Amino acid sequence: MKIRNFSAGPSILNEGVIKKSAEAVLNFADTGLSLIEVSHRGKPFVAVMDETQALFKELLNIPDTHEVLFLGGGASLQFYQSALNFLKTKAAYLDTGSWSSKAIKEAKLVGEVEVVASSKADNYSHIPEFTVPEDVDYFHYTSNNTIYGTEIRYDPDCKVPLISDMSSDIFTREIDFSKYICVYGGAQKNLAAAGVTFVIVKKDALGKVDRPLPTMLNYQTHVDKGSMFNTPPVFPIYVALQTLKWYKELGGVKEIEKLNEQKAKELYAAIDESKIFRGTAEKDSRSIMNVCFVMKDEYKEKEAEFLEFATSRGMSAIKGHRSVGGFRASIYNAMDIEGVRDLVKVMKDFEKKI
Ligand SMILES: Cc1ncc(COP(=O)(O)O)c(C=O)c1O
Repeated sequence: MKIRNFSAGPSILNEGVIKKSAEAVLNFADTGLSLIEVSHRGKPFVAVMDETQALFKELLNIPDTHEVLFLGGGASLQFYQSALNFLKTKAAYLDTGSWSSKAIKEAKLVGEVEVVASSKADNYSHIPEFTVPEDVDYFHYTSNNTIYGTEIRYDPDCKVPLISDMSSDIFTREIDFSKYICVYGGAQKNLAAAGVTFVIVKKDALGKVDRPLPTMLNYQTHVDKGSMFNTPPVFPIYVALQTLKWYKELGGVKEIEKLNEQKAKELYAAIDESKIFRGTAEKDSRSIMNVCFVMKDEYKEKEAEFLEFATSRGMSAIKGHRSVGGFRASIYNAMDIEGVRDLVKVMKDFEKKI
């Protein structure tokens, strides 16, 4: 039985990507050595880093005004680091879920934060309407709310530069980088194995804050050294390169977007047509990456039974986050349409059975 991995993160990777990464662990670039035992300063790994950065930029059409960094610390460190490097006096934040509110908490350590809107009172079931003030250094938003299954699939219009946490929907749409001074995210969803964080920074926006920056938390340090100031997480960077090569083979972000839209359409349709399930996110805020659903009140007591049934049929990690309950199917780029159709079939079979 094929196991379908719907985990929210770390999450599904393409099979070919996993195979190539495994091969490099045994014999890296025909060196007779393992990828995980060689110097990051040796020629073979420097070539990997260069190619990964170049392909990352190519696939997302990132202009030369911006630099792509591969750092440690996770998106969680970026909540603080982005504020530290860009918040001069005041910044605007949109509160759309747990990750946004964590970003807000860290930014408050650095300067004044204006929360322009929040959907917390509705358990973050939708993206609230918002207006960004003009007297702020930047506007920060979380593009995809992994826990609540809501998403902002456009680059917001406002008078100030944007910063975005794109941990769970990077490489799912084209992005207008001229609007952004920083885009960051953990790589463990749409890019690589856990352990590396991508950070895209606008170079001429750096160096504008007065505070002294610790060397490791200063983006300029990493820009100057091509992400090699200290030892980078070599294995997940190698995995990222394999994923990016696969994305290129698929035809790039535009093609990936079409595949994702079809996957989400079929899964949401199954939920909306169902007698027993309902989606938790409002329709116009729905994420195409994390599909959250619960059982309707009259079937609520069947949730544990469905989870067991689905798991026995190979549907792995569909239990919803405790903040929402029910189920969450994370259908990242590496999940193919057949996986989604298998899940839909399992949902329909369960409905027939009860
Ligand atoms: C949107 C979003 N932001 C931030 C994080 C935290 O990422 P990390 O574990 O890399 O710190 C996650 C993790 O799931 C996430 O989904």
